[in-house]
Amino acid sequence: MKNETTIPSGIELVHVSKVYSIESQSVSALRDVSLSIPLGSVAAIVGKSGAGKSTLLHIVGALDRVSTGTIRFNGLDLSNMEDQVASNFRNSTVGFIFQMNNLLPEFSAIENVMMPGLIAGFSPMIARERAVEMLQAVGLSHRAEHRPGELSGGEQQRVAIARALLMSPPILLADEPTGNLDNKTSRDIQDLLLNLCRDLKMTMLLVTHDLELANRLPHRITMDDGQVIDRGIF
Ligand SMILES: Nc1ncnc2c1ncn2[C@@H]1O[C@H](COP(=O)(O)OP(=O)(O)O)[C@@H](O)[C@H]1O
Ligand SMILES: [Mg+2]
Repeated sequence: MKNETTIPSGIELVHVSKVYSIESQSVSALRDVSLSIPLGSVAAIVGKSGAGKSTLLHIVGALDRVSTGTIRFNGLDLSNMEDQVASNFRNSTVGFIFQMNNLLPEFSAIENVMMPGLIAGFSPMIARERAVEMLQAVGLSHRAEHRPGELSGGEQQRVAIARALLMSPPILLADEPTGNLDNKTSRDIQDLLLNLCRDLKMTMLLVTHDLELANRLPHRITMDDGQVIDRGIF
């Protein structure tokens, strides 16, 4: 007999559409996307520029809202959350890594990594202890007191990864995380991300147009013109 009370785990999108309206123009960035991503999946999201990859990532991470449809994480409906609830959800549940690392230039590496902890109300001492561990995990302990401007592109991205992991989020969302790096550095950062995901058993969605990188991930979701045209097999 079907157990009606089971809460589905993982990320679930049901008939999700997203329309951006600018003045009289409207753009359908997502068109009726339904997708289930089980916890622990590591998937590449690929597709042409403008296909809706970043929009999908933003909606999964509650950085943006659906226009219609439903998005859930472990059964929790994210579609119509209050802003403050969405912000708490992001801080505790999602780590973001972007192509531009968005580090705060006037703060040191360790202060940048501590930030999500301070926002969550950790004491500075606890946040710092945790940040030290995270900088170790990304191989950057020796650069803790440097500001972003004193670090290479690859080192900056390591700091951004450490910051994304500070709250031990179950979901990691990465948007072209190696798009700005040279080949060797890019490969190192890819290795780091894949190893961390495996070791920490995180669910990762990684947007990339680099098919070599996509091939390194167990799953692939292909988008075109706001739709998922191949959802891969989970
Ligand atoms: N904030 C926004 N305002 C208006 N249009 C947007 C916005 N973000 C994305 N779009 C549009 O939505 C479509 C999908 O964009 P995006 O998700 O960024 O694609 P991708 O990441 O695959 O390149 C594009 O046509 C883009 O111009
Ligand atoms: Mg994009």
